[in-house]
Amino acid sequence: MLKQRNENNQISIIIPTYNESENIIKILRSIGEIIPKNIITQAIVVDDNSPDGTGKLVEDYLKNLKKMANYTIEIIHRKAKDGLGSAILRGIQQAKGDTIVVMDSDFSHPPQIIPKLIESIKKYQCDIAIASRYIKGGKIQGWSIKRKLISKFATLIAKKGLGINTKDPMSGFFAFKRNIIKGLNIDAIGYKILLEILVKTKGVSIKEIPYTFQDRKLGASKLDMKTITDYYKSVWKLYRYGKPLEKQEKRSSVKFLSKASRFYTVGASGFAVNYMISLLFIGGISNMWYLHANIIGIIASITTNFIFNKAWTFEDRDFRIKKTMSQYGKFAMFSSIGALVQLGMVYFLVDSAELVYPLALILAVMTAAFGNFVFNKKWTFKEKIIN
Ligand code: GDD
Ligand code: MN
Repeated sequence: MLKQRNENNQISIIIPTYNESENIIKILRSIGEIIPKNIITQAIVVDDNSPDGTGKLVEDYLKNLKKMANYTIEIIHRKAKDGLGSAILRGIQQAKGDTIVVMDSDFSHPPQIIPKLIESIKKYQCDIAIASRYIKGGKIQGWSIKRKLISKFATLIAKKGLGINTKDPMSGFFAFKRNIIKGLNIDAIGYKILLEILVKTKGVSIKEIPYTFQDRKLGASKLDMKTITDYYKSVWKLYRYGKPLEKQEKRSSVKFLSKASRFYTVGASGFAVNYMISLLFIGGISNMWYLHANIIGIIASITTNFIFNKAWTFEDRDFRIKKTMSQYGKFAMFSSIGALVQLGMVYFLVDSAELVYPLALILAVMTAAFGNFVFNKKWTFKEKIIN
């Protein structure tokens, strides 16, 4: 028996645009030609005040358009370019359909696939239908090797890092039942809104439909370095989201020890950096006086120690310049004090306590590192000593 749901047999198609004056009218027309006549379709263009006048073009087009019974077009004007994901989200807020389709405006996503996506949702009762480049029958046409690699790598990160089984979680072309995102908090950073939906709605049924992605003929891609860094930021955020709460350690003693052991591990890596850099400057690239080389080694290891401890040990990903530099200053100061403490301790242990040098060194290093850990935890990274 078919499940009965509250369905209004209406779909909404979200089409974000930024500088798509050469494509937008054509794509709106061809969507109109392709959509099934028995389904009411609401197309929503979300334009970010495109400098090339895409928004105005659509307005003018709508003024002269003959009204159709089953196809309406609306446009949302946003003030500034605020990213693809958030444009899509804005469109979703205005969508009336129970099924929502998301697609690009540059003909990379052939409108002919729309009916197939909708059919999958209606017929097979699935929640998300994805137009996929990476299943059998799917292809990409016109992309450089570099762009293909970026895409493949990003897909791999999503699949392995976030435990996604979908073959093309980066697709910008998909349809979904509106009710699956009800109550979800969508951040919509960057390009990858589908990925976010997939992570946050685990357990829904998904179908992938192969298609050929055609690189655009007109206009230019908006994918830039920021899009790529935003992507990795959002994967990181989604990764944290995906971690079940009960798996996050709550016992403060365990957290303290695990941070301390990370701190020691970083310290050991710093020793390796120091050693290698010093050797490099003495023998390798220049014939520096060994004390000068050692100073460079020390500075390098303090720097790498700082970066690893900030990002890994204390999981502080706020890398704004001013804050980071002030933390770096404190960290370097504690490192120098630590070095003095170590020196003093070795001297005392060997000279007065008559310990053998290797043992004295180990004890001194451990003590200085422990002090460093506690001080940096409290003052550099502003954590409670036990939390
Ligand atoms: N409103 C708005 N605001 N629209 C935007 C913005 C923005 O900041 N950035 C891009 N767009 C629109 C473009 O006008 C286009 O219609 C669509 O979003 C996709 O942008 P492109 O710049 O053409 O993306 P692409 O072809 O490089 O990337 C495609 O492939 C990716 C998968 O590798 C897109 O389909 C992505 O969605 C997809 O993730
Ligand atoms: Mn494109």
